[in-house]
Amino acid sequence: MSSMKNRLKDVLPMPVVALAKSMLNGYPSLIMSSLSEARRYNKAYAKDTAKGVKQLESRMMYFTHQIEKGLSHKDFRYGFGKRPLQYLAKTLKLYQQRVSNYSDSMPYRSALAALGEYLKRHVDHEDTLNYVRSIFPVTTLEAAQKMDGHEGGSFHFSEQYKKNNASLTFRELSTNRHSIREFSTEPITYDEIKPALELAMRTPSVCNRQPTRVRVILDHTIIAKALKLQGGFNGYAMPPALILLTADNRVFMAPQEHNEGYTDGGLFGMSLLLALEEQGIAACPLNTMFRKGPEEATRKLLNIPPYENLVMYIAVGHFPDRCITCVSHRFQAEDVVTVVR
Ligand SMILES: Cc1cc2nc3c(=O)[nH]c(=O)nc-3n(C[C@H](O)[C@H](O)[C@H](O)COP(=O)(O)O)c2cc1C
Repeated sequence: MSSMKNRLKDVLPMPVVALAKSMLNGYPSLIMSSLSEARRYNKAYAKDTAKGVKQLESRMMYFTHQIEKGLSHKDFRYGFGKRPLQYLAKTLKLYQQRVSNYSDSMPYRSALAALGEYLKRHVDHEDTLNYVRSIFPVTTLEAAQKMDGHEGGSFHFSEQYKKNNASLTFRELSTNRHSIREFSTEPITYDEIKPALELAMRTPSVCNRQPTRVRVILDHTIIAKALKLQGGFNGYAMPPALILLTADNRVFMAPQEHNEGYTDGGLFGMSLLLALEEQGIAACPLNTMFRKGPEEATRKLLNIPPYENLVMYIAVGHFPDRCITCVSHRFQAEDVVTVVR
């Protein structure tokens, strides 16, 4: 782009150069970078026909997460998850064909652990077990039964465990934070959430321009409508509060900054999750990865102006007496770190 601008300078009069420069810096440059991003993304993402190892691992983690969510429901629904189990079986098979040491990999072990718990919880449900036996090979089911629970499945703790959160070290707080999707029925007030919001304002942002905007939704009807459009919270009782984080594009100054709101908004989201945890308040981040229709309906419902990008929701409430959530096992740092020396 800059060499093109230099060449223009040599051949065109100054006012024309200024006009051309502003055009290259504006809308055309946004369109070109969006096209290039679209091309790169389209080649990389874990679509259902993808056969790459990383894509298979991600698809495994996605289906494992569906099973873990089902295993974490307070009101357990026997026989749940037939479709994710089917997709998981197909993905595990492809993965076994592609990766020689598949049984050492985190996503594979996590899938087996979730499957192992699924088998245990359905021990007296022969119909469901027969279904599982019909889609997974015996060897996979035997390996799943040998897994212990810490690499996948559901994770249980008592609300008492959260009483001293304000005195924990950062390491303890962060290690023990889990997404909570089933809250106590006790309502939550804005005043209870406010200290966490105030702490999250300490989140760094690009040149301190602080693009994140926060809506705290306490109206139950609006929460229900918003989460119906969101779609990733189906099957749960509505949370007592819902926070929406958006990024205000009016703070940005150049086309190349157009994705920065997601970065700054994501950082704000993490600060807020930890600040809520520190206050002993339960939360679960929820995506705003909408198709066009739900995005427009959400914007209308919550009166979001066009200059704001949706970053994420956070469902918020009090911890129930007994908490059940997903293990959501993690990669080791060395699995994702490249040291450049
Ligand atoms: C941006 C974002 C969007 C998410 N969207 C959803 C969602 O739509 N539904 C859901 O149940 N969980 C959602 N989650 C929660 C993740 O499943 C959860 O953070 C992950 O499994 C790690 O577990 P943990 O939060 O308990 O550590 C989302 C998390 C993030 C960070």
